[in-house]
Amino acid sequence: MRVEIVADADEMGRVGADLIAQALSAKPHFILGLATGSTPLPVYRELVRRHREEGLDFSRVITFNLDEYVGLAPDHEQSYRRFMNENLFDHVNIPLAGTHVPDGMAEDPEAECAAYEAMIEDVGGIDLQVLGIGSNGHIGFNEPGGSLASRTRQVRLAQSTVSDNARFFASAEEVPASALSMGIGTVLDAERVVLFASGENKAEAVAAALEGPLCAKCPASALQLHPDAVFVLTEDAASNLALEY
Ligand code: F6R
Repeated sequence: MRVEIVADADEMGRVGADLIAQALSAKPHFILGLATGSTPLPVYRELVRRHREEGLDFSRVITFNLDEYVGLAPDHEQSYRRFMNENLFDHVNIPLAGTHVPDGMAEDPEAECAAYEAMIEDVGGIDLQVLGIGSNGHIGFNEPGGSLASRTRQVRLAQSTVSDNARFFASAEEVPASALSMGIGTVLDAERVVLFASGENKAEAVAAALEGPLCAKCPASALQLHPDAVFVLTEDAASNLALEY
């Protein structure tokens, strides 16, 4: 696995945007997998800057987000659709019709998840999947204890995830109990995966993902099976690593 250690969030933004921009220039009809949360924000900010100042072109990019909370409408303040619109899509020349986020309001979540998988397959799969990591080792909302071969489906949020994400809501009680999430198997099918982690609170999960045993206790450890996984880590997030990279 390739590990890049960066000084801070700004450098993470530049390194992440470099990886995405280079891939976009090589293949303009690009299928980009996206994550929400605090970690990728500097990357999205840098992509927006490059679009505005350097003409980085998103006109033929199709995106698929990892997940969405069940029960939040697209315009809800904390919905991941709204997050993506506000932090990336509204500021670049991407056709909105080509941006996909699972529908957390779907009447039939199982059918929604099957349709989501089918759409990814129809476009030929994801070229590059952006990932964050939960302090419990989750990727997407694939919580510890789940199958490492899972596909898009409805999942229950772990208590630690509810606590971590309570900072975005008025209280922990308002954090939805479940989400629709791409599975680990879905993520592993992407051509390349790029995981970003910043902050000391991620150090343990990062070390378990990169150097721990492959196990359901740390869902991100499944990335050890991926032939082209890149980890972009701030120094504090990398502080528990034992090996040299
Ligand atoms: C969100 C997602 C999650 C986050 C993770 C880290 O789409 O996939 O796995 O990446 O919970 O969140 P932050 O970056 O807020 O620490």
